[in-house]
Amino acid sequence: MKVTQEKCGCCCGTNEMELLLCVKEMIAQYKGKEGSLIQALHTAQKIYGHLPLEVQRVVAEELEVPLATVSGVVTFYSFFSTQPQGEHTIRVCLGTACYVRGGKRIVDKLREILNVNVGDTTEDRKFTFEIARCIGACGLAPAMTIDGEVYKQVNPDKLETILARYYQEEQGVDGNDN
Ligand code: FES
Repeated sequence: MKVTQEKCGCCCGTNEMELLLCVKEMIAQYKGKEGSLIQALHTAQKIYGHLPLEVQRVVAEELEVPLATVSGVVTFYSFFSTQPQGEHTIRVCLGTACYVRGGKRIVDKLREILNVNVGDTTEDRKFTFEIARCIGACGLAPAMTIDGEVYKQVNPDKLETILARYYQEEQGVDGNDN
């Protein structure tokens, strides 16, 4: 399986075995350093793209910490993911202001368009679909972000147009008319 997430920039290969070896090599530098687990996990995620159990196991063995500790950290912090991530991350806000002003309709519409549930990645690995809790745009709710870019007063009927830009980008078409 080819892992599409951002790579570490070293000489890693692209198959799982090569990436696991690369993870092992790169995190060896953290061995014996107190408080370095989070940094090691960041490095591992950068290399492998996400942190499934086999990667967590490599980190645990290499740093000589219990697997349960590694798994606990991975599940605690939202910036770690155990699932493969899409090229773009959509986060729909379901904080109070956005929820009241129709955030749920955005979620439902995206589920329909992307054909995935919250927390999942589309089959083409283009989008990962997540929920956020207030992104600081309450005055212009409902809001969502794509790769950190904030979309305000989102109209569910415009979602397909918004997402189309990300496919057009890939084809070298500038579809941004914000
Ligand atoms: S509640 Fe959605 S931006 Fe604050």
